[in-house]
Amino acid sequence: DKMNFKHYMLKEIYDQPQTAKNWLENYLIKNLDNGQYQIKYPFDTEFFESIERIEIIACGTSKHAAMVGSFLLEQFSGIPTNVFYASEFRYSPPPLLPNTLTIGVTQSGETADTIAAIDMEIKRRSSIEDKKFKPNLIAITNRKESSIGRQVSNIIDICAGIEVGVAATKTFFAQLLSFYGLAIKFAQIKGNQSPDEIGKLINELIKLPPLLEDLLHKHNKSSEKLAHDFFNIKDVIFLGRGINYPIALEGALKLKEISYIHAAGYPAGEMKHGPIALLDKKVPVISIASPGEVFDKVISNAQEAKARDSYLIGIAPECNGTEIFDYLMKVPSSNELISPLLNILPLQLLSYHIAAHRGLDVDQPRNLAKSVTVE
Ligand code: F6R
Repeated sequence: DKMNFKHYMLKEIYDQPQTAKNWLENYLIKNLDNGQYQIKYPFDTEFFESIERIEIIACGTSKHAAMVGSFLLEQFSGIPTNVFYASEFRYSPPPLLPNTLTIGVTQSGETADTIAAIDMEIKRRSSIEDKKFKPNLIAITNRKESSIGRQVSNIIDICAGIEVGVAATKTFFAQLLSFYGLAIKFAQIKGNQSPDEIGKLINELIKLPPLLEDLLHKHNKSSEKLAHDFFNIKDVIFLGRGINYPIALEGALKLKEISYIHAAGYPAGEMKHGPIALLDKKVPVISIASPGEVFDKVISNAQEAKARDSYLIGIAPECNGTEIFDYLMKVPSSNELISPLLNILPLQLLSYHIAAHRGLDVDQPRNLAKSVTVE
């Protein structure tokens, strides 16, 4: 039920602090002997020890979650990881490599391309005798009683509850959390991070729920107001770098699928290699600028857009550098690795309010279905 919300999508955006609480309760377990937290996934972790590389298969929003996951698995856990569109993987899979973990990510558990790609991978690996090539599988899904649930026995149930809006919001958020959990597990197993560093990341996850509440509270009204000014635009560019590049892609996908406004996400550094030609005062640029490794770079990319008269919206904390934005959607300053979990909320709210302001059927956008069971 929608409770007092006008649309399911808005309710589901507001569910996210609870989604985080559920995830923390289900998967973060305190070890009573040493007071340290552990990620508790419902399968044997010895299984991870021989893994040397990871391939992740997904579509749409789930692919964006997988890209954040891949960043974490490589940069935090030190495991070479590739992400594939399921529809591409199934017809042009990469050459087989040994000791590979295959992760399928699908909220519905029913996406035809994802199921077929996993199926193909299971078959081609099973046909080889050498044990190094055997299929090692994990599925990240919101529906363990689903096609992917029958295909794969190691399931990470994202526990997001039913999502009615066609545009994925809280399931994306819960998929992200599942990848943070995996990255922590792998970092522990591979000894790639000190217990201290791991502890810091876990603490940031624990601190999330009130920060998320606060973000919703701050941005619901302001994004409604922003939507009022922007509901008639034709094109929007989203920029991000590093771990926030997939968040730029996801921000653009949310906006186009429910508002029918053309939107594209780019890694900010690629702007000058083409997309910058699109910019003028009619094309707003939404730039995700989280303090960390690439902050200065993102700000200087935003400067380039400003020089072309684009209206600049920043998703960033208020700090040195962010005064460049014409409009700042303030997010709390955090560890850069955690920032996607904060940055996505204002982007979801902004898309929602633009679509709602245009009077569109936000929960049932044209031409789209909640689960895509045909190729
Ligand atoms: C976007 C959206 C789609 C799905 C995609 C994959 O909001 O909902 O892009 O993410 O169809 O769906 P699942 O995760 O069910 O495999």
